[in-house]
Amino acid sequence: MNTIQIEDKAFEILLENDNICKRTRLIGIQLNVDYENRCPIFIGVLNGSFLFMADLLKEITVSCEVGFIKVSSYEGAESSGKIKQAFGLPTDLFERDIIIVEDIVDTGFTLDYIIAEIKKQEPASVKVCSLLLKPKALKAPIEELEYVGFEIANEFVVGYGLDYNGLGRNLKDIYRAKTVS
Ligand code: XMP
Ligand code: MG
Repeated sequence: MNTIQIEDKAFEILLENDNICKRTRLIGIQLNVDYENRCPIFIGVLNGSFLFMADLLKEITVSCEVGFIKVSSYEGAESSGKIKQAFGLPTDLFERDIIIVEDIVDTGFTLDYIIAEIKKQEPASVKVCSLLLKPKALKAPIEELEYVGFEIANEFVVGYGLDYNGLGRNLKDIYRAKTVS
């Protein structure tokens, strides 16, 4: 299906699952090289990253640990930039290599907050792997953002973990909101 409707919004296909999986495989290969013998900790940011995290981790062959955190900050179709709290951050990150796994980086506020929280524990390194990046929305460069699946325009997207009002996370492909013309 190339066009879908979620509540009041129409969406059209942006990235097909095949394409997402191919890109994820390449990122996995790169991570396996970069993190050989380092036993990194992958930290997925819920809810949006759950499918990307699952598909990415299936490509990882180096020894690693896996965890998830939840950050509540986002309402509707616009990033508020107001971070409330991070839940479930592991407490044993000292001198470990951390890879934060995100679905999408928009303004970068969420990531800035998460990186700062993690750095309080003095890890050996912190890098970010995000499936999507909206470069034009990013408020300031994020040095740790090392692995990016796709750069997309400043448009609202759903599917493959991403939601519109809680809906659409289960879609295999990623869709963008159609602009009214
Ligand atoms: P910031 O602006 O802090 O936003 O980088 C990151 C978080 O905002 C959510 N987000 C989206 N969710 N479609 C979504 O479903 C989008 O187009 C979108 N843009 C931002 C997302 O939760 C991300 O972690
Ligand atoms: Mg997210």
